[in-house]
Amino acid sequence: MPLTVVVGAQWGDEGKGRIVDALAADAAAVARFQGGPNAGHTVYLGKEKFIFHLIPLGIFNPGALCCIGLGVALDPLILCQEIKDLERRGYSVISRILIDPRCHLITPDHIDRDRQMEAQRSEGKIGTTLRGIGPTFSDRASRTGIRLGAYIEKLERGDDVPFKGAFADACLCLKQYIGDVSLTLYRMLKQGKNVLAEGGQGTMLDLGLGTYPYVTASNTIAASAPMNLGLGPKSVDKVIAVMKAYTTRVGEGPFPTEISGGLAEQIRQTGDEYGATTGRPRRCGWFDGVVAKFAARVNGVDRWALTKLDVLDQLDTIKIAVAYQIEGEITEELPNNTIMLSRAQPIYREFPGWKRSTRAARKLQDLPPQTRAYLDFIEDFTGLGFQIVSIGYERKCMIML
Ligand code: IMP
Ligand code: MG
Repeated sequence: MPLTVVVGAQWGDEGKGRIVDALAADAAAVARFQGGPNAGHTVYLGKEKFIFHLIPLGIFNPGALCCIGLGVALDPLILCQEIKDLERRGYSVISRILIDPRCHLITPDHIDRDRQMEAQRSEGKIGTTLRGIGPTFSDRASRTGIRLGAYIEKLERGDDVPFKGAFADACLCLKQYIGDVSLTLYRMLKQGKNVLAEGGQGTMLDLGLGTYPYVTASNTIAASAPMNLGLGPKSVDKVIAVMKAYTTRVGEGPFPTEISGGLAEQIRQTGDEYGATTGRPRRCGWFDGVVAKFAARVNGVDRWALTKLDVLDQLDTIKIAVAYQIEGEITEELPNNTIMLSRAQPIYREFPGWKRSTRAARKLQDLPPQTRAYLDFIEDFTGLGFQIVSIGYERKCMIML
């Protein structure tokens, strides 16, 4: 810290929410910087399950101000609903949320357009979350978007606006939370306070560096955090990238280590790999070392957080891709071309399974030797160490290093 950026190293759903929740204990603020309600974060407090799409995962740490930065596409109906749900369940959000007025609004029109575009793509569909993300960011870039602060001003002046009713009411309900996130975070950092930037999606879904066009419409990498929070690039002190002990992907697009059949189904069931936003079954595959090395490089990762290691507990053999074979050539670098990536055949290294539960482990020494060999290999291969290893969905199921 002070400014720690937490990003996903794979195709999203790495468990960033849980990692942010754990780190937020020492943070004065937690800030979402990109994406929108396409994200779905699942967290458990005891047996109570919460799914958030827009609320930052600092919400369960009363000392953390939950910020929504200017780079977030905001659906006011969804955010208001999340706030109301939290209040109904006994969590007060008053003075806990700060939304930058520069956030672009996802309107009902954007959601319609997302649906229409996906329907028209038929064969080449992206498999978007249908939350209006692509059209909202394209309107922003076209300078035809609508910003939250400006819309509220219009509503209060009584100007004629295109979206009235529940949409307008939701915007007005957010008014009390509006404030300058850029300035607030700048001041906190100046005072030496800890701030966490919480990424949505993952590196391989980044608009520029991901598997274009099978990507999301925002930048998901660490460099996006200062820019989309309104901070300078030198404000970032540390980058933590979250990755699962295996890989998943929702939506279309290349996924070299994807597996199918009974083994994929076993991982899907054990890991509860169904989309938190769309309920879609996630595609499952082995850990991809080529992707991990790429994520380390393009994010400038300092440390890893590894999640869902326990999902592998009962497997006989576990694999890690260490290189790709593409059209006869062997490479350890991720191709910069989506078609080439779709032709990649992973070259695997195999590890014997440990065949026992790791959930009770609280330090590395508690893990079976086979599990530690798997972890050691990932550290050696990527050249980066772990900060957190998580072995279960409960808050306590974490090894902090
Ligand atoms: P969009 O972000 O809804 O436009 O969807 C573009 C692609 O990103 C699709 O493949 C989605 O499944 C994927 N995607 C978007 N958000 C998430 C997420 O939070 N987790 C995993 N995949 C996501
Ligand atoms: Mg998710």
